[in-house]
Amino acid sequence: MSDSHKELQVRRVAKSFLSGGQPIEVLKEIELTVKRGESVSIRGESGSGKTTLLNIIAGLETADSGSVFLNGLDIQNISESLLARLRGNEIGMVFQAYHLIPELDVTENVLIAARILGKISQTHRSRAVELLKRVGLGERLKGSPMQLSGGERQRVALARALMNRPSLILADEPTGNLDEKTAHGVIDLVFDICREENSSLVLVTHNPEYAARTQQQFILQNGFLKTPETPDILDD
Ligand SMILES: Nc1ncnc2c1ncn2[C@@H]1O[C@H](COP(=O)(O)OP(=O)(O)O)[C@@H](O)[C@H]1O
Ligand SMILES: [Mg+2]
Repeated sequence: MSDSHKELQVRRVAKSFLSGGQPIEVLKEIELTVKRGESVSIRGESGSGKTTLLNIIAGLETADSGSVFLNGLDIQNISESLLARLRGNEIGMVFQAYHLIPELDVTENVLIAARILGKISQTHRSRAVELLKRVGLGERLKGSPMQLSGGERQRVALARALMNRPSLILADEPTGNLDEKTAHGVIDLVFDICREENSSLVLVTHNPEYAARTQQQFILQNGFLKTPETPDILDD
């Protein structure tokens, strides 16, 4: 099977930012392939470029060079409108800080993902409710996200990320704000639901135990994705 049928391909992606007039090469040559349903973890020091890489994969930032292919489409060379539709349909994002809308109830927060793509129907509502029940929030459907704990808020965010049945979930330190026990529960759900929905997962985490549960493990260091076995990481 040719490469282009694979779910996500990141090819020679580079990205620099200007800092005090000087370019800083955050990503030098990133190579990553994630097949449908596969899970991948990315660890790395703060400032190593993990969020930048996820944003490039999501089409929220553009690389200086290199390509990102999602389902065979080169996302850096498609129209803004096609990119927006592709992002809405194929990518679900989960952030450390949840990013829920306080004025909307829990169900409406999940439905936001569908509203971005068009008119919502009863099928969408059923899907949102089904997902909220799956993440253990079936009793909180009409509640405000402001009344939820951190773990509960992240479960809403996870349901929202999955609303449109994306092929890829990008999770950027999803347990960064949670205590250990709550974090375990959220991570179990992330892995279980991605498996049930056959969504690929790119998980950015500082936790080596969570990283060890993914099928491919990487450390982002000096602009490259390295496998944890690479000696110069162990020597650090
Ligand atoms: N929009 C931007 N403008 C300038 N510098 C940025 C921008 N976004 C990120 N950076 C810099 O790029 C580096 C990597 O940031 P980031 O991807 O957020 O790292 P991580 O998520 O691994 O902590 C940091 O030095 C950060 O300051
Ligand atoms: Mg980050």
